[in-house]
Amino acid sequence: MTGTFSPTSQWNPGSWQGLPIFQQPEYEDVESLEAIYQILAKAPGLVSNGRIEALRSRLSEVAMGKRFLLQGGDCAEKFSDSQRHVVRRKVQVLWQMSAIIEHNLHVPSLILGRIAGQYAKPRSHPTELGGGDPMVAFRGDAVNSLEHSSYKRKPKPERLLMAYYYSKKTLLALNKIINDEPDVIAKVGSLRNQEGAEKKYVNLIKKLNEATRTWKIRDKAEQNAFKASFEYFSQDVEHHSVLGQLREKYEEVNSHRDIFTSHECLLLGYEQALTRWVPGALSFYNLGAHLLWIGDRTRQIKGAHLEYARGLKNPLGVKIGPSTTPDDLEEIVLALNPHFENNKLVLITRLGVNNVEKILPSLIKRVQKIGNPVIWVVDPMHGNLEKIEPAIKTRDFSKIQKEVSLTIKIHGDMSSKLNGIHCELTGEDVTECLGGLEGISTKCLPQKYNSACDPRLSYGQSIEFACFLSEILRPMYSTL
Ligand code: PEP
Ligand code: CO
Repeated sequence: MTGTFSPTSQWNPGSWQGLPIFQQPEYEDVESLEAIYQILAKAPGLVSNGRIEALRSRLSEVAMGKRFLLQGGDCAEKFSDSQRHVVRRKVQVLWQMSAIIEHNLHVPSLILGRIAGQYAKPRSHPTELGGGDPMVAFRGDAVNSLEHSSYKRKPKPERLLMAYYYSKKTLLALNKIINDEPDVIAKVGSLRNQEGAEKKYVNLIKKLNEATRTWKIRDKAEQNAFKASFEYFSQDVEHHSVLGQLREKYEEVNSHRDIFTSHECLLLGYEQALTRWVPGALSFYNLGAHLLWIGDRTRQIKGAHLEYARGLKNPLGVKIGPSTTPDDLEEIVLALNPHFENNKLVLITRLGVNNVEKILPSLIKRVQKIGNPVIWVVDPMHGNLEKIEPAIKTRDFSKIQKEVSLTIKIHGDMSSKLNGIHCELTGEDVTECLGGLEGISTKCLPQKYNSACDPRLSYGQSIEFACFLSEILRPMYSTL
């Protein structure tokens, strides 16, 4: 990809080129890469700018404390996850968590999946131990293959086309399930069949059933109300505008079922190729996802990722790790939200249970000082990674809970508010994170460790987490 940048240039989708950039694959076949960027640049957008704007208007409500943001999904999505039965499990767990949150907080939630494009990973080490010899690290299905073969680990440009294709396939499955399978919410997924597990779960399942019942009753009531009025007005063609308004209203009241898409904005050549000028909106949108976030390893102040993202109309997230200083944060916030919009920037803190008390207060203080209306979200996963020898990565459920409670308390003490949560989780019955009611021990980890990258909360841990979260958040939301 060609292009030049000088600090005085205006932003354009390629103005990041030439700036310091990290975590990019080194492709051998540069010619194919260029050809693939050109194909992608002509492909239809995966999402619409209208839906991106719908997300933005719901993010305004999140900022005002009238909605709670639930962002979750795999660390690394796989191309094979685009099959409908796999997507269904993801919808199920996100809907159920959302129902629990809504039932307890009495505010609607806003679901943002790490889905339909979460195919690129930054890595701490360029190599990893795979079945013995060190080999090039897996960087996500969009880059190379997870298979332990040095040939398959080579970055291949054609995988970018596959990333587009499988994102599309996932989106189609997602929309189909959201629109045609409302009952997915009511099915309890599989819990680990461990001795005593069922008994321990009795309470949790009771809470889950209560929440899903409320969700279903509301679904029905809202549908009936719409249907009756819609049929009434359909008799008369003169009332087309009323029908249009009703349809919008209907979509709005059913908005709890919506799942917006998000992924890490990492491979800038790919992201640039999916950037479109939308004349009606006089803006550039990335039409590859509704929201993009910048990872903790690529949020450098004068770096390429910030430069690319700052010109987009999409809402943006940034991961805030423990090395972020208040000065860094101020620059990031002003670069990405220069117009002080309350539906633009999601700050995702991932400080780790041992750092949060030391670091978070000064970050909140600085944002309050500059008066930028950011949305505060906590990712209690990435600061709490542990390695169990020889090479199993895990996270302890109790540390995840503790980072969340400390974060909520710090926000409360500083008259700030936590607006959402960001988690790596799955609807599958896996053994990747330690603890929880399932009592997953280090011994259990290898049994069902299926993650392509970081360890995720299992289905049971996710439901347990949603119950825990809504309990501790309730006092902050019940005053609304
Ligand atoms: C991730 O979200 O998978 C990730 C790599 O996060 P972070 O940038 O916070 O390390
Ligand atoms: Co991760």
